[in-house]
Amino acid sequence: MVKKKTCVFISGEGSNLKNLISHSRKSNFPIKISLVITNNINAKGIIFAKKYKIPFIFINTKLKNYENKILFNLKKYKITFICLAGYMKIISKNLVNKYQNKIINIHPSLLPRFKGLDTFSRMLKNKEKKAGCTVHFVSEKLDSGSKITQKIFFIDDNDDELILKKKTQTLEYKAFPEAIIKIFRNN
Ligand code: GAR
Repeated sequence: MVKKKTCVFISGEGSNLKNLISHSRKSNFPIKISLVITNNINAKGIIFAKKYKIPFIFINTKLKNYENKILFNLKKYKITFICLAGYMKIISKNLVNKYQNKIINIHPSLLPRFKGLDTFSRMLKNKEKKAGCTVHFVSEKLDSGSKITQKIFFIDDNDDELILKKKTQTLEYKAFPEAIIKIFRNN
């Protein structure tokens, strides 16, 4: 199997990155993580790139030409697939167009409900019964591209934001690799 050269974008803890790395080390998993990009120089997730000797790059998204730096590196590492794993920055139209149907994102809600930030506090305020996560293709509109996988759980009365996050992330660790397998199943 020829694995797709993949870049994972992160901004924080990197627990999804860690999970994807461990899946990608199996011979029958369709992607190889060839590059990690972060917009946060203090992202804890960088330790996983270091540990597994994956090249990583900090992109200062406050600089004017940051987009060119991203595109340059994606080309340099021959990246053909991109996973957004807790990347808290909107991807530009230009990048979306260049990698059409090649960028996927994981979001901590049952999209199309609760797009954007602060999903758990909004769910609790809204007295939602269900929560979960969604893996979807990235389109020009925030959290709106077509769905690949969704996983659901029922919210308990005493679930707070922290518990919701934990329960959601446990499902994310299943949903993200499943979505990747689904995309490349027939390739
Ligand atoms: C994940 O739960 C992901 O769903 C969320 O950030 C977390 C990152 O955790 N993404 C978003 O909210 C994107 N809008 P991680 O850094 O431990 O993988």
